Amino acid sequence: MKNLLDQNFEGKKVLVRVDFNVPLDEDFNITDDSRIQAALPTLNKLIQDKAKIILMSHLGRPKGVESKFSLSNIVDYLQSLLEVNVSFSENCVGEKAMGYVNDLKNGEVLILENLRFHKEERSGGLSFAKQLSDLADVYVNDAFGAAHRSHASTSIIAQFFPKEKYFGILLKNELENLEKALNFPKKPFTAIIGGSKISGKIDVITSLLDKVDNLIIGGGMAYTFAKAMGGNIGDSLVENDKIDLAKSIINNVKNKAVTLLLPIDSVNASDFSNDSNILFSEITDIQDGYMGLDIGKESISLFSEIIERSKTIIWNGPMGVFEMSNFENGTKKIGESICISTKNGAFSLIGGGDSVAAIKKFGMQNRVSYISTGGGAMLEYLEGKELPGIKAILG
Ligand code: 3PG
Ligand code: MG
Repeated sequence: MKNLLDQNFEGKKVLVRVDFNVPLDEDFNITDDSRIQAALPTLNKLIQDKAKIILMSHLGRPKGVESKFSLSNIVDYLQSLLEVNVSFSENCVGEKAMGYVNDLKNGEVLILENLRFHKEERSGGLSFAKQLSDLADVYVNDAFGAAHRSHASTSIIAQFFPKEKYFGILLKNELENLEKALNFPKKPFTAIIGGSKISGKIDVITSLLDKVDNLIIGGGMAYTFAKAMGGNIGDSLVENDKIDLAKSIINNVKNKAVTLLLPIDSVNASDFSNDSNILFSEITDIQDGYMGLDIGKESISLFSEIIERSKTIIWNGPMGVFEMSNFENGTKKIGESICISTKNGAFSLIGGGDSVAAIKKFGMQNRVSYISTGGGAMLEYLEGKELPGIKAILG
């Protein structure tokens, strides 16, 4: 496989799949630009080469054409980060797009409108992928965040560039860091999985149980485990259809080398609001009328002790509702322990939108080893699945 960095793309039309699926507020301000920042090394390499750079991405999950999901909303921001001209094509395929591509000068950047305005993007339409491929000489996939999707622009398109397909710098970097954690972990290896639901994370939990020394579970999903152990969880979030699954995870662990750590105690609120009444209790003894919104002090010290003597740490999913100051402590303290461990030489990898937002809220982004731009993609990679976006470049 050819390496992007070994090539010079001067004058070539290079189509780059980026993941500019970034959060925007009501006024279309970008509230977290991590994914755009992370794409800059590839963009700058191509700008330096004086390639003609065509960027394509999805934004959100639009149903047809919906202006609030237009990528035109990020053009000015990207322009502010680059020294070259950035233009925009109102359609990602067809004559219009072709016209803009033909107008590109060497070193300039064009962004195509949201790929998902065409339903063929998500269905993986072959002729749509072909139309996209007609715009360029070279295909680069730098969209790690969307690499678990078998969509037209992330995987189907690669077949039209049998000799001219590359991983972008970001994607390659993501793979190197994930492999470091997964294939060559220094021990003890600890995974921390949080977030509200078990459903989306069951496969990663199951697969990590065979790989890690410690698996810490926190966040909303912990209450389903607490109920599975026969506890009273009051009005806490629960997935009743996952209770048996939680029970079987708890039982299966008994035959494995891994230590499963669940929260012992909980910070409970009378309402889902920062100024509700607060009660502390064991996680299996939550009063009716109260819901658990964070892990308690005993859980924090149990988890921190494990994290601080780990040598490899992966984290996906917050420990509580860290967006509210009264329920941020668990996530903050776990983040702090990861920073301490990293300072002592551990390798730490954080992924998933919420955990990354938490790390940034607490100003810890420079105190961990690596922050992934992937949520679902990172989880599927950790599950050991082959990601379609990666397979298409390797194949
Ligand atoms: C993400 O943010 O998870 C990626 O950009 C993929 O988006 P999707 O989950 O809508 O496919
Ligand atoms: Mg997603």
